[in-house]
Amino acid sequence: MFIPLIFGSLALLLSLSSRAQAASASEWRGRSIYQVIIDRYALTNGSDLNSCDPNQQTWCGGTWNTLRENLDYIQDAGFTAVWISPVQQNWQGQRTPYGDPYHGYWVQDTTQLNEKFGTADDLKALSAEIHKRDMYLMVDIVVNNVMALSTSPDYSGYMFKDASHYHPYCPVDFSNTTSEQICWLGDLNVTLPDLDTKNSDVISGYNTWIKDLVSTYSIDGLRIDAAKHVDPDFWPSFCGTNGAAGVFCIGEVFGGLDVEDAAEWQGPLDSVLNFPMYTALTQAFQIPGTQNISAITDTLTQSKTLYKDTTVLGNFLENQDLPRWAAALWTFKAYSSSNAMTFNFMTDGIPIVYYGQEQYFRGAGDPLNREPLWPSSYQRTPAYQFIQQLNQFRNYLVNTTSSTSAPWVTAETQVLTTSQFGIAIMKGDVISILTNIGSPAQNNTHIAISTPYERNTALTNILTCEQWVVGSQGYVEVQYTQGGHAVVLYPSASLINNESPICSGKVLTSQGSASVSSTNVASSIYHGSAQMAFLTLELLIIAGVASFGEP
Ligand SMILES: *[C@@H]1O[C@H](CO)[C@@H](O)[C@H](O)[C@H]1NC(C)=O
Ligand SMILES: *[C@@H]1O[C@H](CO)[C@@H](O)[C@H](O)[C@H]1NC(C)=O
Ligand SMILES: *[C@@H]1O[C@H](CO)[C@@H](O)[C@H](O)[C@H]1NC(C)=O
Ligand SMILES: *[C@@H]1O[C@H](CO)[C@@H](O)[C@H](O)[C@H]1NC(C)=O
Ligand SMILES: *[C@@H]1O[C@H](CO)[C@@H](O)[C@H](O)[C@H]1NC(C)=O
Ligand SMILES: *[C@@H]1O[C@H](CO)[C@@H](O)[C@H](O)[C@H]1NC(C)=O
Repeated sequence: MFIPLIFGSLALLLSLSSRAQAASASEWRGRSIYQVIIDRYALTNGSDLNSCDPNQQTWCGGTWNTLRENLDYIQDAGFTAVWISPVQQNWQGQRTPYGDPYHGYWVQDTTQLNEKFGTADDLKALSAEIHKRDMYLMVDIVVNNVMALSTSPDYSGYMFKDASHYHPYCPVDFSNTTSEQICWLGDLNVTLPDLDTKNSDVISGYNTWIKDLVSTYSIDGLRIDAAKHVDPDFWPSFCGTNGAAGVFCIGEVFGGLDVEDAAEWQGPLDSVLNFPMYTALTQAFQIPGTQNISAITDTLTQSKTLYKDTTVLGNFLENQDLPRWAAALWTFKAYSSSNAMTFNFMTDGIPIVYYGQEQYFRGAGDPLNREPLWPSSYQRTPAYQFIQQLNQFRNYLVNTTSSTSAPWVTAETQVLTTSQFGIAIMKGDVISILTNIGSPAQNNTHIAISTPYERNTALTNILTCEQWVVGSQGYVEVQYTQGGHAVVLYPSASLINNESPICSGKVLTSQGSASVSSTNVASSIYHGSAQMAFLTLELLIIAGVASFGEP
């Protein structure tokens, strides 16, 4: 009985001890990432908690130290990695029509750190504290471009000082791949001079820089800004465990549903952020919206064919460039985001949560989606606790199966069924049943799923700890008489055999209770104390809207 646990812990220890060397894609695969904008995460004691207005587009005061002092909030939520906004020095000149570089993406001299966020020792201390907590540090880097205010800047204050290191100015034509790679992002107010990444000085300068940055600050992985705007041949010598960086690299390939556009960058880079699935999830789950479940199944099918490895993709619902999930909604549909969130945690890939989603932030896009986190008082909201449950379960799956012949993280997601109300997927032994009906209860809405489990197999819904029993011919049926919650089913015997902390104690208790019932379709039905929890959630959401309503 203890054996799987011991094996799991050993594998964990081994993977942790190799972390200092360099974390590879396979080590990142089992991680879960919390994304932070340094300037907006936490303040020092005694600061004015009301002085940060995202509309002002200026610094609010967060630093590497304030993140280091407030890591409990991230670790307690079960995250095993932190992605921080860029650390490179930013624009030193006057304020621009788009404000100040509080976000960290307006790079000036890459060889220096951003003094607004702290010193070299501060960044080292942050890295050390993250590692002490068995978490990984992912640093966002900008390589494609620097920032200036004209099309012919004086480059003497930059890492690359000669105009020949940059492509000549041209505005990007987003329908032309060559133009995307050699022209300048930004506009004429704020130009983003584009590095010539075929230039040998640029290649060797960047490679030397990244090797040094990663080793000096013990960085475990890199998020690459604007990756598709760089010559793809640049990446293999720069990124990954075989490149100068020596660590996992995940690239931003901004886009819509087109899987082919994203997938071609996995190869030059270890992985990409999963913009196609993000887009599909918005189409499938957002309310109001097209509520098109086919967008998910289509994207999954294409992903399996086109990506080299779907299990290291970065899955997200929000980031610093996109409207918050709840921004477009007339009312906050909690179950819309929790079903989509569950998909990201229970499918192939690395889940990523952008700070503030767990606080129901609703910013409608840059700069409103870079809210300060502190007005939330870092409360453990129902959304926070929901994410915590998903993290704990996923960490458990990762840890207990890592040394088996069938690790959960590398199992391929299968679609069991779809209906107009949702989708059921299976990855390893986990079945996730997700719906887009939203919070209101519906008496005549159900999803019936043919599972590979035998009749009478006991399953646990790990989100409620309720027991389910598989019906005849392997069917389970979810009824939405208490609203459209996500359901995540896992064999109860596995939890018990592994002495899992997941639903510990509760699994056995409710097995004897009357919380399972069957219909003649053969099924299990929602029951028990769930209703109270939903009521609380709804109330808190109303409160959330009141304090963080549309700015
Ligand atoms: C801030 O305040 C907290 C709680 O009072 C304390 O634990 C912490 O050490 C303080 N941090 C600093 C940098 O003063
Ligand atoms: C694509 O952009 C490049 C760079 O600006 C330009 O030289 C080329 O003519 C463009 N191709 C087309 C088909 O417009
Ligand atoms: C520059 O910024 C101003 C003020 O925000 C805006 O009105 C204008 O359209 C911008 N110009 C360009 C070329 O983007
Ligand atoms: C639903 O998504 C599929 C796959 O992306 C697409 O082919 C179809 O047109 C979409 N339907 C609607 C109504 O948007
Ligand atoms: C699994 O490993 C992570 C990463 O170190 C750890 O934080 C977590 O506590 C472990 N979870 C379980 C359920 O054992
Ligand atoms: C569902 O059925 C219950 C019990 O019959 C009833 O009280 C409730 O109003 C119904 N709800 C809806 C949304 O129809």
